[in-house]
Amino acid sequence: MRSRLKPRRARAATGRVVLIVGATSGIGLATAVAFAGRADKLVLVSRSAEALDAAETACRRAGAAEVDTLAADIAAPEAAARLVARTVARHGRIDVVVHTAAVMGYGSVEAMPAEVFTAVVDTAVHGTVHLARAVLPVMRSRHAGTFIGVNSLLGSITVPQMGAYAVSKWGQRAVLRTLQQETRDEPGVSVCIVSPGSINTPIYYQAANYTGHAVRPPRPVLAPERVAAAITRLADRPRRHVSVPVGPGNPLVITGFRLLPRLYDRLVGPLLQLAVLTPGRWRRTPGTVHHPAPVRERIHGRWPAPPEEQVLTMPTDPATDTPAARS
Ligand SMILES: NC(=O)c1ccc[n+]([C@@H]2O[C@H](COP(=O)([O-])OP(=O)(O)OC[C@H]3O[C@@H](n4cnc5c(N)ncnc54)[C@H](OP(=O)(O)O)[C@@H]3O)[C@@H](O)[C@H]2O)c1
Repeated sequence: MRSRLKPRRARAATGRVVLIVGATSGIGLATAVAFAGRADKLVLVSRSAEALDAAETACRRAGAAEVDTLAADIAAPEAAARLVARTVARHGRIDVVVHTAAVMGYGSVEAMPAEVFTAVVDTAVHGTVHLARAVLPVMRSRHAGTFIGVNSLLGSITVPQMGAYAVSKWGQRAVLRTLQQETRDEPGVSVCIVSPGSINTPIYYQAANYTGHAVRPPRPVLAPERVAAAITRLADRPRRHVSVPVGPGNPLVITGFRLLPRLYDRLVGPLLQLAVLTPGRWRRTPGTVHHPAPVRERIHGRWPAPPEEQVLTMPTDPATDTPAARS
């Protein structure tokens, strides 16, 4: 099969000002490197200064015109205003914003501690709200700008043991859909939704986990560069009010969830056991929900993507399990 990502074509420099929240791992880091290759000016945000230093190095190597970093928790109400003000002070404008920050949580609604559930939801939902409230007035003032929210297949379906994450993604989708409606009066401003399926990133072993089992992404697992390519395409040719799925099975699963709910509910539990929960035991952990783990942040997780998806844009090394996380 011919890859949609290869051969990699040289792109013209665009010199845009791009703010990426969640830029130090997985899809966000792949996206930052992709924008860097277009000589864009980047502002990278995540909670970890250490991971931001590594992301800055990768982006400079990839050709970024400028790289600024800011350690901030996007769930904190004051953080978004601070990072938008700093970006405008430095660059005078913001052309593209990508909100890809998220924390994942596995475990039933009954088993997951309340503060973990709340934090998973907060990062996606209130993170998007805070960021939009800070940046959209700046884009409106210039009648130009693209706001891209990275949502998920889980923003359209539910799955047992993933309630917190599904709530976070359904809520985030509601925020983004509302923003699409509320910016109809400003044709130069686009709000876009990207909805990946299963992507090979560290999020699966960074996740909170109260299932008793190690988890893995269900197949097929795509490369994060695939999502980054969808994001840069939207930045190049903003399409207002789009929701871009990334993953071959997504439309089928969503159709089954909506049209055949009884069959879907009967199958989804056993399928989760087979495709996501591994036989390996895993002790209860809040993962990175409350605190980042920079040493395990990188573009790729440890689940090999199909060969045609493997487009390495920076050196990777296999992620290591924390022995402490195993029982
Ligand atoms: N991987 C998948 O299979 C998949 C599938 C569908 C959708 N998605 C979505 O894609 C997006 C990216 O996921 P990913 O797989 O790339 O995850 P990832 O590798 O774990 O990266 C998450 C990024 O968000 C940052 N972050 C987390 N909490 C934050 C906070 N409160 N404030 C600021 N930054 C924060 C992390 O850095 P720090 O921890 O250092 O802050 C990291 O840079 C998420 O929205 C996720 O829901 C992923």
